[in-house]
Order: sequence, then C-alpha cells, then structure tokens
Amino acid sequence: MSKLIAPSVLAADFANLQRDVEMINRSDADWFHIDIMDGVFVPNISFGMPVLRDIVKHATKTIDCHLMIIDPDRYVETFANLGCDILTVHYEACTHLHRTLQLIKSHGMKAGVALNPHTSVDLLKDVIQDLDMVCIMSVNPGFGGQSFIENTYDKVKALKKIITEKGADTLIEIDGGVTDKNAKQLVDAGADVLVAGSYVFKSNDQEATVAGLKKLVN
Ligand code: DX5
Ligand code: ZN
Repeated sequence: MSKLIAPSVLAADFANLQRDVEMINRSDADWFHIDIMDGVFVPNISFGMPVLRDIVKHATKTIDCHLMIIDPDRYVETFANLGCDILTVHYEACTHLHRTLQLIKSHGMKAGVALNPHTSVDLLKDVIQDLDMVCIMSVNPGFGGQSFIENTYDKVKALKKIITEKGADTLIEIDGGVTDKNAKQLVDAGADVLVAGSYVFKSNDQEATVAGLKKLVN
C-alpha cells in the first residue's frame, strides 16, 4: 500500500479556507486531517461543526477527523453526520475506549485512537484488532508548528511489532512536526500516514511541497 499524506487544515488560512481546501483537492495529498480542540483536553480551541461542514462541502478526499476533546462519545453521531470517514479519539480522553470504538464503527466510520507523547503503545495491545488506525502524536496536542519529538521513531517500531504479532491491519499515523527531515525515517519505522500542517501551509508552493513529501515516502 502506498504511504499516505494528510495535510492538516489547522494550518490553513481560515479567511481563504475554500482556496486551501481546493489546493488539497488538486494536490497529491490523500486525506484531509481535521483537528477539533475543545480548550479542555488541550489548551487551545480550534474550530467546530459549522467550519467542518463547510470544509466537507468542498473537500473531495477522505476526511480524517482528530478529536482532541473530553468525553468524545457525546459527538460521535454528529461527526458521522458531518461526513467524517475516520474518527480518532484520544486514549487519554476515553474511560471505556472499547465501547467508544464500537460506537464510532456503528456509525459507519473507521475508528482511530491517538496517543499523547507520554502514553505507551503497549496500552493498545488488547484493542489493536478493533482499531483501524493509531495516531501517534509526535508533539503534545493543541498547537501546530511545534518541534517533532525524537522518541516517536521507537514508538512507531514498537507499535508496528504489536500490529504484526496480533495480525491486525491497523494503520499507523504520525501527527506533529512532520517535515522532509523525518518523513522517510518515519515510514521506514512503520508509519503509513503522515499528517503535515505547517510544513505544507507555510511553504511557498504548497502543492509542490505535498508532491515532494508524497514522492519522498513512496
Ligand atoms: C496538533 C494537531 C496536529 C497539527 C499538526 O495538536 O493534532 O494535527 O495540526 O501541525 P504541524 O504539522 O504544524 O505540527
Ligand atoms: Zn491532528
């Protein structure tokens, strides 16, 4: 399977959102990565349902939605109705993770779990068969533009080992500080999906940056 690139809309220009969504449509990107923050689970508020609704209206690719919110079960149905294809919740925000994963799937979405940098991949051993994706946070969630945490490579390798041993087909996504400097090493360690916000949107030629990243890892 080819390695996937998911630009993070958090780094887009919100006053020119349609333009930036269409840039992703045209580019070699595979998914839209959408960051929803509640100001409680993370120390920042990003955007909510009305903005997501308008993104989905123009987006022509998979919607990969990353919920950085407490008690995400409350909104699973809402995000399904908004058109999300993959819904990722945080391990640290779910008391009954297995139940939350079933809820996400019952609404026709793929289910993902994100791990903060301090959370061990070993904690997923017992639910790995139920997971379509694990998102390894390579920064502390809450903000774009932070530097990549080097320990991530070891986490990716350890998670890949668990997935292989259990015979699961779970994808590994990396989120935070991804650039051309770490992308190749990440996929060599076992990553399948790379989220990139600032690296794409702060570049002069965004489409060329996406194309370069896609080529670098495939
Ligand atoms: C951080 C978000 C990321 C963020 C990545 O909490 O989950 O998706 O947008 O942005 P960069 O690529 O700039 O680190
Ligand atoms: Zn994210």
